[in-house]
Amino acid sequence: MTAAGRAKSGAKRLLERAGFQLVRSTTPQGGVDDFIPFEPTMRAARAASLSVCDYIDEVMNGTPGATQSTIDELRTLGVFAAMPDTVLEIGPGSGRYLEKTLEECSPTRYEIYETAEPWANYLVDTFRVIAQPVTGFSLDTTPDNSVDLVQAHKVFNTLTFLGACRYFFEMARVTRPGGRIVFDVMTETCLTPETMHVWATRGGTGHDSFPSAMPRRTCVDLFAALDFSLEAGFLAPLGVASTEVLVFKKTA
Ligand SMILES: C[S@@+](CC[C@H](N)C(=O)[O-])C[C@H]1O[C@@H](n2cnc3c(N)ncnc32)[C@H](O)[C@@H]1O
Repeated sequence: MTAAGRAKSGAKRLLERAGFQLVRSTTPQGGVDDFIPFEPTMRAARAASLSVCDYIDEVMNGTPGATQSTIDELRTLGVFAAMPDTVLEIGPGSGRYLEKTLEECSPTRYEIYETAEPWANYLVDTFRVIAQPVTGFSLDTTPDNSVDLVQAHKVFNTLTFLGACRYFFEMARVTRPGGRIVFDVMTETCLTPETMHVWATRGGTGHDSFPSAMPRRTCVDLFAALDFSLEAGFLAPLGVASTEVLVFKKTA
């Protein structure tokens, strides 16, 4: 195999460990919006006698317990004790965070914005959530100030900078005063020289928009300007590296 071929297959493995398959994007926005395929993933999880969440965490990502550890941190921070009545999740994919969120609290309404139709249909059928139409990076079917908890996990490092920015403004708009926003981004906290070397040497995948970084300070300042304060930040595994989960609260 050539050096370029080796780099490409290393990158493919890394992307698969990060939770999705390497498929060339066809969107004009240029983000990585293709997710792991529905049927083969469900079949493989069944064959391994694992839930789809555990299959993704343990087998595909090589990070057993990763989803649960983020949920545990959020519980410790009181995110679920606030008993969110309306939850909105961007890019739930297989629903690994969605399922665990529903084990922690009982919202009467759970909206999702998900571009992968087979997964969105599965989540609607399995968890009775409401799939909203995805138009660009907007949450325009959701009214202002209507959601108690808005979350997105492992999504913004797959979108372009502009896509993430557009969603940030929308997340702020739909959050109710006193409500929370939780999402992870690849901040400077996650980008040591060693980690950058890992990413750089496995680059050239044809998806140069992944992983996309987002400065922590930029997020904190933006949400402060939108009436949110940062409650907490903690690291969560992303394949061989990590992202930083940020928890914001809107002024009541
Ligand atoms: C890396 S996956 C993460 C999935 C899930 N949150 C998890 O951690 O397993 C990114 C998800 O975002 C979805 N996605 C991509 N572009 C999107 C967009 N513009 N709006 C909503 N979801 C999007 C993908 O289909 C995929 O489900």
